[in-house]
Amino acid sequence: MINEETRKFRHALGAFPTGVTIVTTTDTVGNPIGFTANSFSSVSVEPKIILICIDKASINLEAFTESSHFAVNILSEKQQEISTTFASPVEDRFSNVNWKTKATGSPIINGAVAWFDCAKDKCVDAGDHYILLGKVLEFDSTIITPLVFLRGNYVNLALEQKMLRAMEDDSTKVMVGALIECRNQIFLLDQEGGYLDFPAASSLGSIDDEDTLLGKLHVIGIDAPEHYLFSVFESSDDKTSLIYYRAQIDGATKAKDGQFFDFDDVPFEKIRDEWSRTMLRRYIAERALNAFGIYVGKETDGKVEAITKTNDY
Ligand SMILES: Cc1cc2nc3c(=O)[nH]c(=O)nc-3n(C[C@H](O)[C@H](O)[C@H](O)COP(=O)(O)O)c2cc1C
Repeated sequence: MINEETRKFRHALGAFPTGVTIVTTTDTVGNPIGFTANSFSSVSVEPKIILICIDKASINLEAFTESSHFAVNILSEKQQEISTTFASPVEDRFSNVNWKTKATGSPIINGAVAWFDCAKDKCVDAGDHYILLGKVLEFDSTIITPLVFLRGNYVNLALEQKMLRAMEDDSTKVMVGALIECRNQIFLLDQEGGYLDFPAASSLGSIDDEDTLLGKLHVIGIDAPEHYLFSVFESSDDKTSLIYYRAQIDGATKAKDGQFFDFDDVPFEKIRDEWSRTMLRRYIAERALNAFGIYVGKETDGKVEAITKTNDY
């Protein structure tokens, strides 16, 4: 259980935008291992030294502290799923990743924006982490756009601009919905026929306008001034653009016409649309990592892309 001071500290740290890396090495029998890290920093140019911090709670701590080498792979904006895989308890994190080795034998991930293959220089004890300092033996870089992480979200500003322009285009039919989380519960509106659904309207709007999403939420008793884009997709049937925001609120005055459900007790069978169920499942998975992406695509397929805002890793 994290206390308020820790949460505030993490929140403040999350205000610093970073790239996202995969730190790799090999274990004693030569198996590739790795984890997602945004604590990468350059240290020295001559000699070439970089650093990365590893949590003392990491299951791979021993492998990294004992290994004579490690590599840092800077991920591209197309590699967000790799970031999620390497931050999750997946048995073989490398099963869907192509990689090669260079000077030290540490995995170098294909498609990385840049990589640094290092001999371990020092391992410094620092609170609940160790700082791994690496002497760079070989490195390379490309001009591919890197993945950016800020306040718990993967960032893609170009995408946000594109979406806002689409929303301003009068010829596009738009539906805007919200995933509202309050004290580890998700809000679903009661619908006719016993169904449940996310609150939605034809625009995001403002709390003064009851025809808009923020206005409707206000009437229900939910105020969500801090909301972040979570999903943008097109329905296959009537060509509507669906835009979903997510918001975490501290409390709701009344929350009428709906209910809050515990995440492990959501009656998925009552949620009418498959895409709403899929979206909620993704939300539950991403909140566990405190790293939210944005899904962009069609109702049925699509990919998780990136966009701005809150949280801490
Ligand atoms: C964007 C992001 C950045 C992270 N940065 C670090 C980091 O710098 N150091 C660290 O130890 N863990 C970091 N983590 C958490 C680890 O990736 C995560 O705890 C992972 O499960 C560790 O795996 P392991 O215990 O299997 O080694 C980060 C996670 C994310 C999503």
